[in-house]
Amino acid sequence: MTTNTLLQEELSTTVFATALPKTQPHLDATPQDLFAAIEELKHKLNAVILAHYYQDPDIQDIADYLGDSLGLSQQAAKTNADVIVFAGVHFMAETAKILNPDKLVLLPDLNAGCSLADSCPPQEFKAFKQAHPDHIVISYINCSAEIKAMSDIICTSSNAVKIVNQIPKHQPIIFAPDRNLGRYVMEQTGRDLVLWQGSCIVHETFSEKKIVQLKIEHPEATIIAHPECEPSVLRHASYIGSTTALLKYCQASDDKEFIVATEPGIIHQMEKAEPNKRFIPAPAMNNCACNECPYMRLNTLEKLYLAMKHKAPEITLPEDIRIAALKPIERMLAMS
Ligand code: 13P
Ligand code: SF4
Repeated sequence: MTTNTLLQEELSTTVFATALPKTQPHLDATPQDLFAAIEELKHKLNAVILAHYYQDPDIQDIADYLGDSLGLSQQAAKTNADVIVFAGVHFMAETAKILNPDKLVLLPDLNAGCSLADSCPPQEFKAFKQAHPDHIVISYINCSAEIKAMSDIICTSSNAVKIVNQIPKHQPIIFAPDRNLGRYVMEQTGRDLVLWQGSCIVHETFSEKKIVQLKIEHPEATIIAHPECEPSVLRHASYIGSTTALLKYCQASDDKEFIVATEPGIIHQMEKAEPNKRFIPAPAMNNCACNECPYMRLNTLEKLYLAMKHKAPEITLPEDIRIAALKPIERMLAMS
């Protein structure tokens, strides 16, 4: 019996990928076995694997496309695959489904949610919107389909400034759900946005004090940060951008050392692209690994394999919500 057959037998005992724990000591399959098995399924299903930079390195390595939230939605909008395997979090896979109602969209672990999306419950947001009847709503893509359905335009961290700049100056705007990105957009555009007070638990975990200490220990290092970080961290950054923008900045820069204030999954690509540069993850407040997104990291190579094998868990959503959520996403794609 080949290793691959053994692997399939062992893994097939688990029907639902969501039931798998993060580590599975009973499996002795190597990442290479799983890579081969996933490649085989990819051809069989005519599937494409889309992955975010915050995924585990082995998932990044097997992805057909790796990117930030904007890049991933652009890929989802143009793929010819029959099956989209989304190695990311729920709102990302949901966006892919909104764009592709006839395709099967799989998320390796349905519990891969997002604290930022959770910080904006639809009923409360509906009341907030009603309290500002003259405002249009621009929502960060990190929100549920219900919130997207209540929005006029969606944006991501890489196009938020560009999109707000395209709105006539007299038009009042609600920006949801991330208050940190919203504040950053206000600074960059000079616009007065009404902010929903949501935030990301990962990007709010960075400690200004520890970043300043790190900078003292590494005086040559350039601090770069994601706009979901708090202002106390952003004010120390020489460059602020989406994950893709941060990666490109490190590649273009002559600097040799960087302190990276975002989820450290992106460092895998930075090190691959620039093996002679040094990337130091910004530390969290406590001595914990809480700068790793606990939702993104629920996906594993094993769960990805099982999702493809069993064609589950699948993303579904009510058609009325999907249609309403599609419009603001299409506006974003056209304005990007
Ligand atoms: P980007 O993908 O736009 O860089 O955003 C990062 C993030 O937090 C995704 O959840
Ligand atoms: Fe959500 Fe933050 Fe994780 Fe991104 S890093 S998926 S915003 S919890």
